[in-house]
Amino acid sequence: MSSDTQHDTPASAVPAPVDPTATASWRALAQHEEALEGSLREWFAADPQRAATLTHDAADLHVDLSKNLVTPETVSLLLDLAREVGLEQRRDAMFAGAHINTSEDRAVLHTALRRPAGGDGPLVVDGQDVDHDVHEVLGRIYDFARQVRSGEWTGVTGKRITTVVNIGIGGSDLGPVMIYEALKPLADAGIEARFISNIDPTDAYETTADLDPETTLVIVASKTFTTLETITNARLVRDWLLSGLRDRAGITAEQEKEAVARHFVAVSTALDKVADFGIDPDNAFGFWNWVGGRYSVDSAIGTVLAVALGPEAFEELLAGFHAMDEHFRTAPLEENVPALMGMLNVWNVNFLEAETHAVLPYSQYLHRFPAYLQQLTMESNGKSVRWDGSAITTETGEIFWGEPGTNGQHAFYQLIHQGTRIIPADFIAFATPTRPLRDGDQDVHELFLANFFAQTKALAFGKTEEEVRAEGTEGALVAARMFSGDRPTTSIMAPALTPATLGQLIALYEHITFVEGTVWGINSFDQWGVELGKQLAKGLAPAVAGDEQAIADEDPSTAELIRYYRAHR
Ligand code: F6P
Repeated sequence: MSSDTQHDTPASAVPAPVDPTATASWRALAQHEEALEGSLREWFAADPQRAATLTHDAADLHVDLSKNLVTPETVSLLLDLAREVGLEQRRDAMFAGAHINTSEDRAVLHTALRRPAGGDGPLVVDGQDVDHDVHEVLGRIYDFARQVRSGEWTGVTGKRITTVVNIGIGGSDLGPVMIYEALKPLADAGIEARFISNIDPTDAYETTADLDPETTLVIVASKTFTTLETITNARLVRDWLLSGLRDRAGITAEQEKEAVARHFVAVSTALDKVADFGIDPDNAFGFWNWVGGRYSVDSAIGTVLAVALGPEAFEELLAGFHAMDEHFRTAPLEENVPALMGMLNVWNVNFLEAETHAVLPYSQYLHRFPAYLQQLTMESNGKSVRWDGSAITTETGEIFWGEPGTNGQHAFYQLIHQGTRIIPADFIAFATPTRPLRDGDQDVHELFLANFFAQTKALAFGKTEEEVRAEGTEGALVAARMFSGDRPTTSIMAPALTPATLGQLIALYEHITFVEGTVWGINSFDQWGVELGKQLAKGLAPAVAGDEQAIADEDPSTAELIRYYRAHR
């Protein structure tokens, strides 16, 4: 934001959602969809400018929307809808710190985590000088990361740290692990990052089995510091660490407190609970309740990244996020890539009846990106009520899934090409390889990119009966070898996979999620749907432990399953 901002806008002041289905643009879109004729082959043939018209740049990302099942008129109607539901106003309210997370009466300010220090003018929300606090914590994280990376910070026995283990789940795991995997080539300080998330004890066991406790630093990352998986794993790893230090280095009971202080740090919004766990609050990095878990990788939750990849890489990542924020905040809707992609998703879900959405990175380093996006998109928009508590008025929340290309090509692409369902897909690729390798004369990255280009071409334009017959195919095989085409895709390219472009990519999908949520009237920033399972798991403990009366009190199916478990354990 370029001017001084001072905000205190409670949830009660947030306007009720507009019912998208009751708008004039929704009706126009429905009629337009009915009347839409032609195919991607025909549309491209009729309009030589189609690719240029429907391609846009956002920061360093180059985004081609032209292989979607839209005409320029569709896009224009979708933007009418965006305006009718108040997308721009809601976007501005989010950036300004209004409490658009109505069910928790909180601001939604992940975008403030990546504002440059002093560069954008002050942002004061609910009395908090947000920029000051964000940069104060960042400074502490960078100091800590530099100490660990230089060897100044050692374990309790004086040895240098060579492994950092992040313990967290959901937003406290998926973002850090995805980014670490994506930017692994930048891990230049001899420090490997590992991640424990699952309460399946094999996760903690396998992750620590070959580690040396003397050279291991543990980051316990939990926004609430109450999450069962994380706190249980933190205890398991503390026991592993202390017993290892006793056995290998002979530390005494008196030294245990110091050992925890040298080997454990915490990241949380609940610093009091960090102290209760036994971690020194001086070794804790805080963030704030206006950062949602799945939007938190650029908060202190990214400490593991600052340690393993370095503060400079983390800064570059934040700058990438910010560049996309600025694009989303300021670009006219006609050129605004997150707005356009979000509205295209609305078109695909609500008018073309797509149920799922594939994300297919042509980058092995992005192999965890689809999993990361699953939490971002589905925990955000998998809802049936609107932000005022009323029922949604149309389908919401696509099912996101995917795998890196080309692996997916030899697995599930068959269904995308020739199945009966429409599956919009985002293809992501980078012009420059992180690892340029040759196979004889062949640049292997070019071979890889040829696949990327070929897939979207095949999905868009298919293969006609004449083309199949022209290749000499006859009889029943003709139909099997035909491709209908008209399978919608978006191509996203960037010069290279760097911290900056990765930050841009993540922010792009954050804002796409916001755009869809706004059209559907959804509060994309709460997650009540995960509560029931947590509550029931706690209540089931006595039955699982064998309390016969507790088992008998369960429904017959659950009781039978627990009895099976008890008989076979
Ligand atoms: O699954 C629910 C959830 O609350 C996510 O939204 C969150 O990212 C995850 O659990 C972990 O929560 P915490 O960071 O508080 O441990």
